[in-house]
Parts: sequence; structure tokens; C-alpha cells
Amino acid sequence: MAREAKEFMGMAANVTVVDHPLVQHKLTLMRDVTRSTKGFRELLNEIGMLLAYEVTRDLPLEPVTIETPLVEMEGRRIAGKKLVLAPILRAGVGFLDGMLSLMPAARVAHVGIYRDPETLQAVEYYFKSPSDLADRTVLVLDPMLATANSAVAAIEQLKRRGALDLRFVCLLAAPEGIAHLQQAHPDVPVWTAAIDSHLNDHSYIVPGLGDAGDRMYGTR
Ligand code: PRP
Ligand code: URA
Repeated sequence: MAREAKEFMGMAANVTVVDHPLVQHKLTLMRDVTRSTKGFRELLNEIGMLLAYEVTRDLPLEPVTIETPLVEMEGRRIAGKKLVLAPILRAGVGFLDGMLSLMPAARVAHVGIYRDPETLQAVEYYFKSPSDLADRTVLVLDPMLATANSAVAAIEQLKRRGALDLRFVCLLAAPEGIAHLQQAHPDVPVWTAAIDSHLNDHSYIVPGLGDAGDRMYGTR
């Protein structure tokens, strides 16, 4: 883990940096400006899978009796209702397939938000979720946590619809974004592949990877 991250982590007990070598390797490939749209999307999908593994590490298990071909035994399965994956459109969708391949029965809540490029405020345009959010763990997905205006608004919407147990998963976080998210929603822990240096004058993450949605979909 980078030194800066460690120092930042000292202040932010609720942040986990997933510094697994596979994640860091793939993240570096993604940051590279020469990476193709196809390559960028594939890597985001793969990192989504690896982050899903980490963010679900402490899910509670319950005993279940099964029969193997040889004997009856007590196995363990994940307790409670299926998780909800809540991607923030558009870029959050890049995590979805990778995560669903590990958790195929998860429910999906789509949260349509973009940040206004001038004001940087979150603009909400779509929301559709399962109705029983209160009974489920919700993983809010967005590769980029910059000012955190989008994440804060998405979590507010999910809480308004009843969500009580939320986790935020991203690829890159700015220190400013983590501070804002933790101040607004101190109950929501964060998983990220890296904490970058700072936001530039346009509130882009530096060194970052540019505009995640544009790089995923080949738009501009
Ligand atoms: C990007 C990104 C986050 C947001 C982060 O989305 O995917 O949702 O910006 O910035 P913030 O932390 O300062 O709010 P964008 O607004 O570009 O929308 P898009 O995914 O539809 O392109
Ligand atoms: N949104 C992005 O896609 N990238 C950034 O660096 C900041 C916000």
C-alpha cells in the first residue's frame, strides 16, 4: 500500500484499500491512456470481481445440512437475503457483470446520477430498486469517488427507500471524496483499489484515469 494511503488510512478507519497485486496490476493497465475502450471495460469487469471478493469477506454464514455422494454433512451458506448491487449510472455498470458472475442471484438497483460539469452537483435522473432494501446489504458501485457529490446523493436516495446496511465500492478515490462521504454517511464503509493524490481544478482525480464513463463507452 502506498505511504500516502497508509497515512490517510490512519484518519479513515472505515476505508479499505484493496492492494492485492492482481488489482494493482489491472488498475495500472486501466490508467494507461493508450488502453482501448474494450480493454478498459474488460479490466473494470475483472477488478469488479476481485473487489466483490473483498467486500463480501465478512458476510455472515449459517449452517446447512446437505448430502455429499458419501455422507450427510453440515455445510455453510451465506445467511439472509440476497445482496443488492447498486451501480451509479453510467460508469458503475462497469462493475456489474463481474460482480454478478460471483453473486448471480444478487438484486440490482439502478441509480441514474451524473455530476454537472459546471457546478459539480449531482443531477438525479433515474432510480429503480427492489422494494425491500431495508432487509438487504446494498453495495453501491461507482469506479470514481471524486468530490463524492454523486456517491452522497446515491446513498441518500437508497436510504430514503429504506436501505440500512450499505457499503461503497470504487476503483479510485480522492482524499477529498473520502472525507466528504465519511462526513455525510459515516455509517457507510468504503472499499477502493487506490487513494489518489488530489482533485485538479476541474475536480478530476489526479493522477486518476480520466472520465471513467467516457473511457468505458468510447464517448466524449
Ligand atoms: C462520474 C463517475 C461518478 C462521478 C464522480 O460520473 O462515474 O459517478 O463522476 O464524481 P463526483 O464524486 O465528483 O460526484 P459522471 O458524472 O461523469 O457520469 P457518467 O458516468 O454518466 O459519465
Ligand atoms: N469522474 C470521472 O469519471 N473521473 C474523475 O476523475 C472524476 C469524476
